[in-house]
Amino acid sequence: MKGIVLAGGLGTRLYPTTLVASKQLQAVYDKPMIFYPLATLMLAGIREILVISTPTDLPRFESLLGDGSVWGIELSYASQAEPQGIAQAFLVGEHFVGREPVALILGDNLFYGRMDLDRIVRDFREGAVIFGYPVRDPERYGVVALDRDGRVTSLEEKPARPKSNLAIAGIYLYDDRVVELARSLKPSARGELEITDLNRAYLELGKLQAIPLGRGIAWLDTGTHESLLEAAEFIAAIERRQGLKIACLEEVAYRQGFIGRSELLRAAEAMPPSPYREYVELVAAEQT
Ligand code: TTP
Repeated sequence: MKGIVLAGGLGTRLYPTTLVASKQLQAVYDKPMIFYPLATLMLAGIREILVISTPTDLPRFESLLGDGSVWGIELSYASQAEPQGIAQAFLVGEHFVGREPVALILGDNLFYGRMDLDRIVRDFREGAVIFGYPVRDPERYGVVALDRDGRVTSLEEKPARPKSNLAIAGIYLYDDRVVELARSLKPSARGELEITDLNRAYLELGKLQAIPLGRGIAWLDTGTHESLLEAAEFIAAIERRQGLKIACLEEVAYRQGFIGRSELLRAAEAMPPSPYREYVELVAAEQT
């Protein structure tokens, strides 16, 4: 399976922080936001990844992330001229996707905990998979309702009266029909190609699976100053307690077997003296 990180958008709610660098380039505690969704894809075993951003920000992502070879992955880039909806990722990324299944993750979504995404990706055969996460304020999100057997009974975008408390999290898996289905979507009232409409197309084909994420998993988004601060505090609390880093891409690549110890050490040597470098060196020095 291939992966897409969608990291465009306007980031207006974070103004003026986002005046000269997009939301996904901002720090969440000790690393750029985009490291977190990238790590999520890498932990799912995905190594071919397209980063989509605005024409202005795309070169900044390229200089931050390069071609991905330090982490044993292949990164490519595509620009979304206008933020015309999350489902537009499949039109922008049409050539990248080709005829393969693909995972889309939003560049401002952080997942922490055992989601079994690697197994879900490995077992994925066809259709679409979305994830439902219990939230206090579902009316702010796409909402999925399930029947007793776990079948999807409704999908609604920001409903005034939500039929469940399950918000649809910002990671989605699709089969090779996704580009064709995205092409058939019409812009919504707010002028966007809605991911909820794409999911509805799969639902109508009888091919949409919704997996409820347990309460042991943290799903955070970082679209407002409050949620960004909360996410940073969450990451900081866990990192300080465990002495381990969340979404250190060098460590993820090493533990996933994408790179070996000598490549890990080489990556560390290229870093300026910093707590991040010290951490990567510690990982490399571990006895296995
Ligand atoms: P949003 O948080 O809905 O939008 P935004 O990032 O533009 O922020 P604001 O509402 O404050 O202006 O977007 C969710 C994620 O999807 C975020 O990572 C940006 C990305 N996105 C795109 O890259 N392109 C798009 O067309 C849309 C709608 C979102």
